[in-house]
Amino acid sequence: MLITLKIDNYINKNFKKELKYLVLLRHETLLKTHYSKMSITPYEGRLLSLISKLVNPKLILEIGTFTGYSTLCLAEGLKKEGKLITIEKNKNWKIISDKYFHLSPFSKKISSLQGDALKIIPNLNLKKIDLVFIDADKKNYSNYFDLVISKMNSGGIILSDNVLWHGKLFNNIENYDKISKYINIYNKKLSQDLRIENIIIPIRDGLSLSFVKI
Ligand SMILES: C[S@@+](CC[C@H](N)C(=O)[O-])C[C@H]1O[C@@H](n2cnc3c(N)ncnc32)[C@H](O)[C@@H]1O
Repeated sequence: MLITLKIDNYINKNFKKELKYLVLLRHETLLKTHYSKMSITPYEGRLLSLISKLVNPKLILEIGTFTGYSTLCLAEGLKKEGKLITIEKNKNWKIISDKYFHLSPFSKKISSLQGDALKIIPNLNLKKIDLVFIDADKKNYSNYFDLVISKMNSGGIILSDNVLWHGKLFNNIENYDKISKYINIYNKKLSQDLRIENIIIPIRDGLSLSFVKI
C-alpha cells in the first residue's frame, strides 16, 4: 500500500457502493483462498471500471484472472456486443470465478480460459484488442506486452498492475530482489517504447496505463 491508510479510508468512503456480487466474491475469496491480497481492491476496481467505460471496448484481454474480481470490473465497460477473454493458470480459482461470472450480468460476454497465458495468447485467433489488463507473474510482464502489442487497436489501452512493487523499487538498485529487477526493466521498457504513451498511476501497488498510438 503506497498511499497512507488515512487517504485510503477516506477514498473508500467516497465512491459508489460496491456491487453486491463483487462484495460476495471478495468475501468468498477471503474465506476460501489464502491469497485474497492478490485481488485488486474495490477502489482499484472502480478505476478499472471507469477506464473500461471510457474505452468502451469491443474486446478485452485479461492475463491473470485469480477469482475474477478485476474481470468483473473491466467487463462493466464492454460494448453491447463486446467480449472479454481472461486467462488463469491455476485451475483451483476457476470454481469461484465461474460462479461469480454467472451471478453477474456479463456471463455471456466472458470467456474464461485455463492455462499458461504465454502459450495461450499466441494461439488465440483474436480480432484487434481494445483493452488489456496484465496482472499475472511479474517476470513475464515484458513477454505479455510483446505478445499483445501487435494485436492492439490504435487508441487501445494496456494496463499493468503492481508496477511499483510494494515500494521496493525505491531501494538502491543493487538491493533489488528478482521481481523488482523484472518490474524495473518492464517500467523502463514501457517508458522508452515509441508505440505507446505510458504513465504510472500511484494507486495501491502502482498501475501503469499505456496508450497505444500505432
Ligand atoms: C495477482 S493475481 C490476479 C488477480 C486478479 N487480476 C484480480 O484482481 O482479482 C495473479 C494471477 O495470475 C496467475 N498466473 C500466474 N502466471 C500465469 C500464467 N503464466 N498464465 C496465466 N495465469 C498466470 C496466478 O495463478 C494468479 O492467480
